[in-house]
Amino acid sequence: MGGTNPYIANTEYKHPQKTYTITYMKPDGGVTKIEVDPSKIPYGNTGLPGSILDIAISHGVELEHVCGGVCACSTCHVIVKQGLETCNEGTDDEFDQLDEAPMTSLQSRLGCQCVPDGTKDIVVEIPAVNKNLVREGH
Ligand code: FES
Repeated sequence: MGGTNPYIANTEYKHPQKTYTITYMKPDGGVTKIEVDPSKIPYGNTGLPGSILDIAISHGVELEHVCGGVCACSTCHVIVKQGLETCNEGTDDEFDQLDEAPMTSLQSRLGCQCVPDGTKDIVVEIPAVNKNLVREGH
């Protein structure tokens, strides 16, 4: 599933102009570092083009996305440990959804709505609790 949510405000974001990396710290302790090539954005069709979710899914990094990347759940919650200042501003709708997520912090974002501009490398933690909650729901 992909596309946009017609009920939320449009978010503004800038696409990167140069190659940068996103490092994903996964719940199992594994780390995956991905080089993001601006010319390949969007990598897929889930989440905003060039979002942390778009990059993750297209590179085999497991990041839940129950609503299909349209800011209508909170399962794509990530904690941006480094480079948050290079990401687009979150909308009220995004932060409303994040209120539903466990273990949020001031660096929390929805992976599907968070688009880095590529001026710095990004480090993202995928909270373990996301995975557990989704498992319980199945
Ligand atoms: S995938 Fe549902 S809010 Fe991001």
